[in-house]
Amino acid sequence: MVSLLFTVATFPFSIWMCIKIVKEYERAIIFRLGRIVQGGAKGPGLFFVLPCTDSFIKVDMRTISFDIPPQEILTKDSVTVSVDGVVYYRVQNATLAVANITNADSATRLLAQTTLRNVLGTKNLSEILSDREEIAHNMQSTLDDATDDWGIKVQRVEIKDVKLPVQLQRAMAAEAEASREARAKVIAAEGEMNASRALKEASLVITESPAALQLRYLQTLTTIAAEKNSTIIFPLPIDMMQGIMGAKK
Ligand SMILES: *[C@@H]1O[C@H](CO)[C@@H](O)[C@H](O)[C@H]1NC(C)=O
Ligand SMILES: *[C@@H]1O[C@H](CO)[C@@H](O)[C@H](O)[C@H]1NC(C)=O
Ligand SMILES: *[C@@H]1O[C@H](CO)[C@@H](O)[C@H](O)[C@H]1NC(C)=O
Ligand SMILES: *[C@@H]1O[C@H](CO)[C@@H](O)[C@H](O)[C@H]1NC(C)=O
Ligand SMILES: *[C@@H]1O[C@H](CO)[C@@H](O)[C@H](O)[C@H]1NC(C)=O
Repeated sequence: MVSLLFTVATFPFSIWMCIKIVKEYERAIIFRLGRIVQGGAKGPGLFFVLPCTDSFIKVDMRTISFDIPPQEILTKDSVTVSVDGVVYYRVQNATLAVANITNADSATRLLAQTTLRNVLGTKNLSEILSDREEIAHNMQSTLDDATDDWGIKVQRVEIKDVKLPVQLQRAMAAEAEASREARAKVIAAEGEMNASRALKEASLVITESPAALQLRYLQTLTTIAAEKNSTIIFPLPIDMMQGIMGAKK
């Protein structure tokens, strides 16, 4: 009350001490004689404080992202994997973020690490490798529930990288290489077999009917003629070819 009277009395000068400004993405929590002022966070833009009795804290409402450092985790089937990720969160309720926790940011970081460990500890290796999206979604809802009391909204969690132990990596690479080689061999063998089968079939057809061979000659000649843009003239009637063929036989 005294402060208010004083402010009014010295109005032209004190007005400059009363006006405060916060940016579009900020909110101000005002403490008047130690208590949070009714009506919650002020801003963005202009707001008024009383000199001496009021103090205020600015809260950034933008989305913040941080890396979860690589965590060594023992999966359900006893493989040690190293997993890291990214978390995106923002302050949803500035009053709670100030009044209910000393450092919302570091609390969220620590909680993200332990949540990652807890969620992955219940999965086996194949699930971790195949269900990343589901794990991320799971983590997001768990984290979000826990941070509700701090006025924090966890918007997104991503699993960045799953690193397998070096020995397991080598074993898997060797297995993949072996199966690839085996498959290549099978394909090559099949191709060889197909080619020889085709040759055999062709020779069978030709021996069965000599006319087939003759037709083939003609076809080849036509192809050559088309390529070279020329006309081929047979000096002999085509029937005589048959005679020649017959004689050869
Ligand atoms: C923030 O939380 C406080 C306490 O629960 C509540 O009174 C206030 O309305 C909330 N503010 C917003 C913007 O939700
Ligand atoms: C992993 O767990 C799932 C379900 O819990 C199961 O179906 C799958 O067979 C397990 N895989 C291995 C390799 O143990
Ligand atoms: C602070 O968190 C507790 C739960 O941990 C909750 O019951 C309480 O309402 C929160 N404080 C405010 C001011 O809302
Ligand atoms: C061999 O022939 C079969 C069918 O006769 C075909 O499915 C297969 O693709 C062929 N393989 C190769 C390598 O050409
Ligand atoms: C073949 O002849 C035709 C017309 O007689 C001509 O248009 C074409 O360009 C020729 N092709 C070649 C490869 O000489």
